[in-house]
Amino acid sequence: MKEVRVMSVFGTRPEAIKMCPLVKELSARPGIRSLCCVTAQHRQMLDSVLEVFHVRPDWDLDIMTPRQTLSGITSKCLLGMDEAIEHLKPDLILVHGDTSTTFAGALSAFYHQIPVGHVEAGLRTYDKYSPFPEEMNRVLVSGIADMYFCPTEGNRENLVKEGHQKGIFITGNTVIDALRTTVQKEYQFATDELNRLSYDTRKVILVTCHRRENYGEPMKNIMLALRQIAEENRDVELVYPVHLSPVVREAVDTYLRGAPRVHLIDPLPADEMHNLMARCYMVLTDSGGLQEEAPALGKPVLVLRRETERPEAVAAGTVKLAGVVQDDIVTMASRLIFDKKAYEQMAHAVNPYGDGQACRRIADAIEWRCGLRANPPEDYRA
Ligand code: UD1
Ligand code: UDP
Repeated sequence: MKEVRVMSVFGTRPEAIKMCPLVKELSARPGIRSLCCVTAQHRQMLDSVLEVFHVRPDWDLDIMTPRQTLSGITSKCLLGMDEAIEHLKPDLILVHGDTSTTFAGALSAFYHQIPVGHVEAGLRTYDKYSPFPEEMNRVLVSGIADMYFCPTEGNRENLVKEGHQKGIFITGNTVIDALRTTVQKEYQFATDELNRLSYDTRKVILVTCHRRENYGEPMKNIMLALRQIAEENRDVELVYPVHLSPVVREAVDTYLRGAPRVHLIDPLPADEMHNLMARCYMVLTDSGGLQEEAPALGKPVLVLRRETERPEAVAAGTVKLAGVVQDDIVTMASRLIFDKKAYEQMAHAVNPYGDGQACRRIADAIEWRCGLRANPPEDYRA
């Protein structure tokens, strides 16, 4: 029987962290030819993940330019995908999440009339401009997709409400699969500054911030809040691996650099980042991925945004929305630093996002759809 050619398309760091385990799972299935096409919407940050997971792309569009625009990314991806599809001849295309790569990848598959599987489907804020442009990317990809791999039951309900009926699977999030391979009990950091931190006696706060809707005033407020937290608390160390976006770097340089007890470092390889998260006191972030990872590792998270499409960990009590107003962020962070009871209430491991079997379920669902397996996978239940 002919192998089914399944092409995974991704381009940014978070997509890569969540798709590499799936590319590898698909490679281990005898009836499937697992192909990997990267757009390289991120260059260095993507390559770092590929190295950690030992994944070698079959096709690389190499589109990244400094300060790229949304139209620039989308149009370059579309043109590049034509070539990739012609060359690799996929029977099914997998895209992940909500980036410009995701949208262009799905649109291109549609133009070639190739079915699409959407990994991490069904997340919603129902605010078209927040996160921007990600919320609209998700909605548009849902209109194109043929298979939906939802991390949670809530994500499935969102799709059903919008009229999607068929091809929905609840799989858990593949990020939990990734974490299981990266986090180790005994871990030596390659980044020396991280080995020198005392995780038992100091409160190490892990920070990230990069979202487009936070550009401008909100990002300034966030940076000033971080500065104030570091200045007012002698027993904290803020560790901030700064995203390579020039917009983010400018905000960091203008408002945060030079503050005491703030460690501004380059983006970390995924394994370093996950092990740092496992050892830190708490997380302040506007990242989507960190909102899923930190709860699994028992770390409280304050989200530096006005909304979240990941309500499950908020409901479980380990994630709180801190917003983008300086005073609010400082007040909420200070409470977790000073109030042991408030901290303990948030610091428990919960796993609403998966059991580490998401890739297995997605591969099983694909095999089932392609007639390689008699039954669909069982749904993931938190
Ligand atoms: C993108 C995604 C966002 C995701 C984020 C993950 C879109 C619209 N946005 O946003 O959903 O949360 O990735 O980090 O798809 N750069 C480098 N090297 C790199 C990566 C980025 O130099 O390895 C710089 C470049 O100047 C680039 C800029 O960062 O132009 C912005 O990258 P881009 O992918 O456009 O936006 P992100 O904010 O990273
Ligand atoms: N991450 C990483 N190194 C860093 C910062 C983040 O490996 O220096 C990982 C993080 O653990 C998570 C993913 O990158 O798995 C999140 O990516 P990002 O915050 O860039 O995007 P988002 O999840 O918000 O789309």
